[in-house]
Amino acid sequence: MSGVDENSSHPRLRPPGDASHRPLRPSVLVVDHPLAQTRLTALRDERTDSAAFRAALHELTTMLVYEATRGTAVETYPITTPVGPTVGHRVAHPPLLVPVLRAGLGMSDAALALLPESSMGFVGLARDEETFAPRAYLESLPADLAGRSVIVLDPMLATGGSLEHCVRLIAARGCDDIIVICVLAAPEGVARLEASGLPIRLVTASIDQNLNDRAFIVPGLGDAGDRQFGGMPRFAE
Ligand code: PRP
Repeated sequence: MSGVDENSSHPRLRPPGDASHRPLRPSVLVVDHPLAQTRLTALRDERTDSAAFRAALHELTTMLVYEATRGTAVETYPITTPVGPTVGHRVAHPPLLVPVLRAGLGMSDAALALLPESSMGFVGLARDEETFAPRAYLESLPADLAGRSVIVLDPMLATGGSLEHCVRLIAARGCDDIIVICVLAAPEGVARLEASGLPIRLVTASIDQNLNDRAFIVPGLGDAGDRQFGGMPRFAE
């Protein structure tokens, strides 16, 4: 989202042009595959209980990670099938996965299943629902991320404050290849990340209408953390 044509500098995320990919701008990919949209519908529906919500989030994350890594670099190595020799493939540089707690936890199993060689870092943030500013309570990341690829997982990009904070932590460690995977994004959050100048590529299943006066995404899905794990007081005052 740095304003340059990142498709040319990051060819592995170049949208392949089939109907399941709709590039809005060089660094934003909306995955509107029908199977992704059915899981998104389950997440949006207020009748979906926590167990079904977690299952739909897991499945949708699989699809988003699959599309986000479509052009990832692979290396080849020789293998032998029961019939004879051939060439095998493996991910050349497994990324660091960073779920943003709490809600991003519900995406981490699916991402790790597709990228089992990956390592994981963790960032804990909770948005203050009066100021809408993120409050950090956990930062567990490698000290040096130069030359690494990082995939950040958070279901929702609302004002963008939380993800901007998280990505700044990662960029400050030298990383310039950061994929942010969200289920939903608000236009306000997308604009904030774009304006940040941070080296972000966003992959999402939807860019919704707007934020309401509580900074919730409309129509959105409510609070992804609460819907997975239950609501609870966030800070002892
Ligand atoms: C939600 C969501 C994002 C953030 C989005 O988390 O998972 O991290 O809010 O809002 P923003 O773009 O305006 O910063 P929340 O703070 O509710 O914490 P939780 O994951 O623990 O529920």
